[in-house]
Amino acid sequence: MSHLPLPLPEGAVCALIGAPGSGKSTFAARFPSTWRLNLDTYRALATDDEADQTATPVAAQIQNLLLDARLSRNLRVVVDSTNLHAHVRAGLLARARYWQRPAVAVLFDVPLDTVLTRNSTRRRVVDPHVVTDLHQTLPTTEQLRDEGFETVYAISEAALDF
Ligand SMILES: Nc1ncnc2c1ncn2[C@@H]1O[C@H](COP(=O)(O)OP(=O)(O)OP(=O)(O)O)[C@@H](O)[C@H]1O
Ligand SMILES: [Mg+2]
Repeated sequence: MSHLPLPLPEGAVCALIGAPGSGKSTFAARFPSTWRLNLDTYRALATDDEADQTATPVAAQIQNLLLDARLSRNLRVVVDSTNLHAHVRAGLLARARYWQRPAVAVLFDVPLDTVLTRNSTRRRVVDPHVVTDLHQTLPTTEQLRDEGFETVYAISEAALDF
């Protein structure tokens, strides 16, 4: 597993945390595909449209089913969603605690102008106002530790260049 971008312990829940366009899915693609949970993918499977927010509840149900299925087997998961709402992170931490698994956070503390540039040039552009508002809700690494993540990584702009 030396090719992995981070050392993840067995059975770990790894939450990627960052604004739309900050590079989470690009980073997640370096992990085996079966480890990755992604709401966009499940929204697309349910509706043929990854951005269809009416499918978020069913996508969240699928994500939770897979999360429990894998954690119960001590398999790793990388949760590739924005995870910017504290209550969403609390839900992931609760599943990790239930299964007694380690919780790891990866914070994409990429500067707003970099995120806006990346967002503007990609296939699926998110409203820049939404990106700006969400970027302002980025937690700090200290906050994430206080919430209960045992290990917290920060992926700055420089570290993202691979
Ligand atoms: N390290 C990087 N350097 C330059 N460009 C990058 C880097 N990482 C990602 N990008 C580009 O930025 C854009 C957004 O990346 P990505 O789709 O991974 O973001 P995301 O955080 O998954 O967004 P969302 O939350 O909307 O799914 C893509 O066009 C991608 O190619
Ligand atoms: Mg993504």
